Amino acid sequence: MWALGTWVLLGAVCSGSAQLQFNVIKSVEQTICNKTVIIPCIVTNLIQNNIGTMFVKWKLEKKPFFIFRGSTRTMERNDSFSSAELESEQNLTSGIASLKISRTQAVQGNYSCEVTESSREGETVIELIYHRVAWFTPVENILIILSMVLAILFYWIQLAVTVSKFETTLLKIGLFIAGVVITISAVVGFSLLISDEFKPENQIGLGLIVLPAVILVPCQYFLLQIVYENNLSFAIGVVILESLGYLIAVIGFGLCITACRPKNGAVVIAGLAIMALIALVGLIYAILSGYSKKEQPTRKAVEEPLNDAKGVMLE
Ligand SMILES: *[C@@H]1O[C@H](CO)[C@@H](O)[C@H](O)[C@H]1NC(C)=O
Ligand SMILES: *[C@@H]1O[C@H](CO)[C@@H](O)[C@H](O)[C@H]1NC(C)=O
Repeated sequence: MWALGTWVLLGAVCSGSAQLQFNVIKSVEQTICNKTVIIPCIVTNLIQNNIGTMFVKWKLEKKPFFIFRGSTRTMERNDSFSSAELESEQNLTSGIASLKISRTQAVQGNYSCEVTESSREGETVIELIYHRVAWFTPVENILIILSMVLAILFYWIQLAVTVSKFETTLLKIGLFIAGVVITISAVVGFSLLISDEFKPENQIGLGLIVLPAVILVPCQYFLLQIVYENNLSFAIGVVILESLGYLIAVIGFGLCITACRPKNGAVVIAGLAIMALIALVGLIYAILSGYSKKEQPTRKAVEEPLNDAKGVMLE
């Protein structure tokens, strides 16, 4: 690379203006997020600026795959580079011979750009490097998974704590099935979300984590309502906050889903974290109330004033 650059430079100095000089770019990076790839090739000392006298040849590892003839304004290209074209035919007269290729055809390697203007010519080499990028950062992935694991875990604990209080088995079964559904969907979602390179499965994974979380909202209501028969406003307040968390998570999902490199991962995380936090609050209250209720029948007389005080405090 360097040797070639020096050689081109020396050539230009020694033979006056016989050689074309380039704006030297050693390499360009491509990721899965590039729909098209542009390999830059910019001549800095054209004299004629006339497309009719120009000729451009692109090679990959020394094998030509694209030729543009200015005189006829025609191009020839290899089948495996059928998408290749000059970035802008008009700008060729100002020295821009950059090549545009679709991502799928742009293989990694050393590309040579050879430009001729009448009898002057020159060549520059640009390395195209493929760079893997994941959808979310590892930290974002961990936070998304952690928030969801906690939200589901708190749900199961709360179900276990309050299950004895349900009189109808139908509701018990319903809440159990809801828990199983959300757990399975989240676990499948986790496995699809994580990969070292972005792929559509990641988006499906995030969908499986975020969207079914709506199930937790009514379930939370039923769980709290059984404990707080006479304090529904608390249950409703929790459900409203939980819905808010869900709404934020869904908005974040919407913002991230179409982006190849999402900038709004924090919104999804915030939404799921709120859901987990609210589930924890619900759980703590359920446990506290569970204890105060269990003790009632046996030590009713002694505990009653205490419970009343507690009840007031909790309200
Ligand atoms: C790929 O896309 C990035 C970001 O848009 C851009 O900076 C980069 O130049 C592109 N790579 C190529 C080789 O076109
Ligand atoms: C491209 O050329 C550079 C310098 O000669 C070399 O280090 C690199 O490995 C080459 N890349 C490929 C993909 O062959």
